[in-house]
Amino acid sequence: MNMIKNIYIPSPHIIIDIIKETEIESTYKFKIDKSTFKHPSYGQFYEVSLPMIGEAPISVSNFEDDYVDLTIRKVGTLTNAIHCLKKGDVVYLRGPYGNSFPVDLLTDRHLVIAAGGCGLSPVRSVINYFYKNIEKLSKFEVLMGFKTINDLLFKYDIEKWEQKFKSLITLDQSCELWQGKPVGLITDYVGQVDFSDKDNMSVIIVGPPIMIKFTAEKFIASGIKKENIIVSLERNMSCGVGKCGHCKIDSTYICCDGPIFTYDQAERLID
Ligand SMILES: Cc1cc2nc3c(=O)[nH]c(=O)nc-3n(C[C@H](O)[C@H](O)[C@H](O)COP(=O)(O)OP(=O)(O)OC[C@H]3O[C@@H](n4cnc5c(N)ncnc54)[C@H](O)[C@@H]3O)c2cc1C
Ligand code: FES
Repeated sequence: MNMIKNIYIPSPHIIIDIIKETEIESTYKFKIDKSTFKHPSYGQFYEVSLPMIGEAPISVSNFEDDYVDLTIRKVGTLTNAIHCLKKGDVVYLRGPYGNSFPVDLLTDRHLVIAAGGCGLSPVRSVINYFYKNIEKLSKFEVLMGFKTINDLLFKYDIEKWEQKFKSLITLDQSCELWQGKPVGLITDYVGQVDFSDKDNMSVIIVGPPIMIKFTAEKFIASGIKKENIIVSLERNMSCGVGKCGHCKIDSTYICCDGPIFTYDQAERLID
C-alpha cells in the first residue's frame, strides 16, 4: 500500500553544541543523520518546533556534512523555550524550505555582502563558503552593522574572515572598546566599497526591511543594477511550504518563491 508522506511531521534532532553569541542570541548545532536528513542550501530555513509549545521558521546559519547551525534570537514563546534547552536535548525540524543564494552564479564576480544585525545569520554560510573558495570571486567585501558591541555575532568567524577579505564592522553606538573603529549606519560605509568594476558586481543585502531599502538605494545610486542586488526577506509564516497563505503578498509566496529575491522583484514586497 502506498503511504502518503505527511510533510508537516518534523523529525527530532539532538543539540550537540550551543554557542552563546549575545545576551539574546545563541547558535545551536544539530547533529545530522545523513541517511534521513535533507541537507540545506545557502540561505534556506527550517521550521523549528517543540511539542506543545510552537513552531517558527529559522534560517540556517551554517552547515557541513555532519551538522547544521541555527542561530536563534530569544523573542517569544518558542525561542524562549529553546533558550532553556541544553546540549543533548532534542528540537524538531522540518525542511529545508525556500530558495537559496545562487552561489554558483556568483563565480568570477565581485561580491559585496551588507548585513545588518541578525541578518548576518542567513548569509553566514555564504560568507563561509567563499572564505573556503575565495578564488571563485574576483573580489569579496563584507560590510556588517550592529547596534552595539554587545550585539556582535559570530566573532570567532569574523576574526577568520578579516584575514582573507575586507570585513568592515560598524556600530550604531561607539564605546571605549571601539575607539577609532567605524561608527554609524552601514549606509554611511557604502561609499568605501570599490565600485571600479560595477558591471561585474553582485550585492547581497540582509537585515531589517528598512536597512535593506536604504542600503539598496545607496548601491543603486552608485550604479549597481537592481537585478544584481539580492536580498533575503522575513515575513510571518506558518506552513513554510506554500499552503496556508500567511506569507503571501499579491501572488508571491515568500516561503517558497523566496525568501531570496533580486531587488527588482523584492522592492514591491518590502513594507
Ligand atoms: C524565513 C525566516 C527566517 C527566520 N530566521 C530566523 C533566524 O535565523 N533566527 C531567529 O531568531 N529568528 C528567525 N526568524 C524569525 C522567527 O521565525 C520569529 O521571530 C518567530 O516568531 C519566533 O517564534 P516565537 O514563538 O519564539 O515568538 P512569538 O511568540 O511568535 O513572538 C514573535 C514576536 O511577536 C511578539 N509577540 C508575541 N506575542 C505577542 C502578543 N501577545 N502581543 C504582541 N506581540 C507579541 C514578540 O514580542 C515577538 O516580537 C525568521 C523568520 C523567517 C520568516
Ligand atoms: S507560510 Fe504558508 S504559504 Fe507561506
